[in-house]
Amino acid sequence: MQFSDADQQVLIDIMRWRRDVRHFKREAVPAHLIMELQRAVQLAPSVGNSRPWRIFMAQSHAIRNAVYENFQQSSQKAAGIYEPERLAQYEKLKLEAIQTAPVQLAIFTDTDPTQGHGLGRQTLASTLEQSTAMAVQNLNLVARSHGLGVGMVSILNPGAMEQLFEVPESWRFSFYLCIGWPEFKSDTPLLHELGWQENIEQNWIDM
Ligand SMILES: Cc1cc2nc3c(=O)[nH]c(=O)nc-3n(C[C@H](O)[C@H](O)[C@H](O)COP(=O)(O)O)c2cc1C
Repeated sequence: MQFSDADQQVLIDIMRWRRDVRHFKREAVPAHLIMELQRAVQLAPSVGNSRPWRIFMAQSHAIRNAVYENFQQSSQKAAGIYEPERLAQYEKLKLEAIQTAPVQLAIFTDTDPTQGHGLGRQTLASTLEQSTAMAVQNLNLVARSHGLGVGMVSILNPGAMEQLFEVPESWRFSFYLCIGWPEFKSDTPLLHELGWQENIEQNWIDM
């Protein structure tokens, strides 16, 4: 398979126009697009081909309300580290869309999968969670190519998420994703626009 200059540019454009989204329209996401997101996840690399991601579609009000409550408690706790000026800024940030996003995924990583037979992860256990993150990035990019937005939520108590979804002992909470049709117009990260954290390019280090 060969890719043209135009194809290469499209890939970069999708990356450049991917944004973390916290503001969604209410319209549903059609089932065939959810299938496309599943396909994107399945195409991800994983250590030893272990495919350790475990994904739940969180659909019920009860589950979503419990996740939202977890977020509120976790966010309040997280705010505790900030001095008054930063805290005032933190309190204005919108850091999730659990009450509005039409599609929500709770993503866990199996830290002891039989698939892959332990290959590659014995020296670096974090490679399993890295694999899940790569699958999520595949999903992010394919979502963006269809005009869908994804918001990643990490301000959640992981133990409470594992209990809520009643996962096996070896599964660790990795990501909660809010997905839907975005209300966004910018190619600049929201946290940059709001003055929380500028986009600073990290240089590659020559040695
Ligand atoms: C692992 C991970 C966890 C994140 N958790 C949150 C979160 O809890 N809430 C939030 O609003 N954004 C979260 N983000 C999004 C980042 O804030 C966002 O990626 C960053 O500000 C850059 O903006 P961009 O994604 O639009 O380029 C997370 C991103 C990553 C990669």
